[in-house]
Amino acid sequence: MSALKSKHILGLFDMPVDDIQLILKTAGSMKYMLTSGNKRGPHLQGKSIVTLFYENSTRTRLSFELASKYLGASAANISASGSSVSKGETLLDTARTINMMGADVIVIRHPMSGAPRFLSKHIKASVINAGDGMNEHPTQALLDMYTIMEKKGAISGLNVCILGDIYHSRVARSNIWGLTKMGAKVSVAGPATLLPPQIEKMGVKVFGTVQQAIIDADVIINLRIQAERLSHCLLPSLREYSRFYGVDRKILSLAKKDAIILHPGPVNRGVELTSDIIDGDSSFINEQVTNGVAVRMALLFLLTRRSTDEAAC
Ligand code: CP
Repeated sequence: MSALKSKHILGLFDMPVDDIQLILKTAGSMKYMLTSGNKRGPHLQGKSIVTLFYENSTRTRLSFELASKYLGASAANISASGSSVSKGETLLDTARTINMMGADVIVIRHPMSGAPRFLSKHIKASVINAGDGMNEHPTQALLDMYTIMEKKGAISGLNVCILGDIYHSRVARSNIWGLTKMGAKVSVAGPATLLPPQIEKMGVKVFGTVQQAIIDADVIINLRIQAERLSHCLLPSLREYSRFYGVDRKILSLAKKDAIILHPGPVNRGVELTSDIIDGDSSFINEQVTNGVAVRMALLFLLTRRSTDEAAC
């Protein structure tokens, strides 16, 4: 079996295609195990995984914790509010402390773009970026790509449309880097104030309206409106957003008949998507959650196996 080239999972911008393919393939085996009725494996026996979250999370944090436990690792979590971070300890000192306790992998979510990369230069453990500011959320994009592969059989040649607040979205950035590397044609649409300047340079097509962007789409990735990162100068109201950029049945009918709908969650029901679409047959939002566990199992397994192989050399 081949090995990951990357020691850390910091983003899809610099992840080799071979690594993406290996992660998606390994996630397939992990999904099989996850859904087989016996969720326990020995893959991470003797390994310690620590999740260090400076921002709120349900899916990412829990799926890393469950993935660690399902594969036999010791898993622990610390969050900024309940740790010495609240007493003024720096990110680096916190990470060095975790490192000295023998963590093999540190999974970090941080509001500052670049925080996981900074850590990776200073500690021995592998670092996984669980979302850094407006930069990247690579494990979300990997689980999105896994879900697309599972439902469509391949990524290359597909029309993938990403809708919403692209500017603040680390999910959009990771998906754009990953999907274009894997041969998809990516288009984006959203309010002009929520599109990064010169986004075309990322290799995507930009549309002024959702209706134009969605025509012939195979996959629609709807992003969460991040109220916590928005000001009224950027978006007058959620109602206005929903009226012009929300997806309902009429708009969805412009996409391919078998188009699938993804959303990283948490969903603002009735804002990005109507409830009948969220709960309808085209939506694979629930499967994304399960696939998130499988992908994170794959990542933890591949990273720890890589370090064991290195130590043996
Ligand atoms: N998609 C995502 O990152 O969700 P959480 O914020 O719940 O982890």
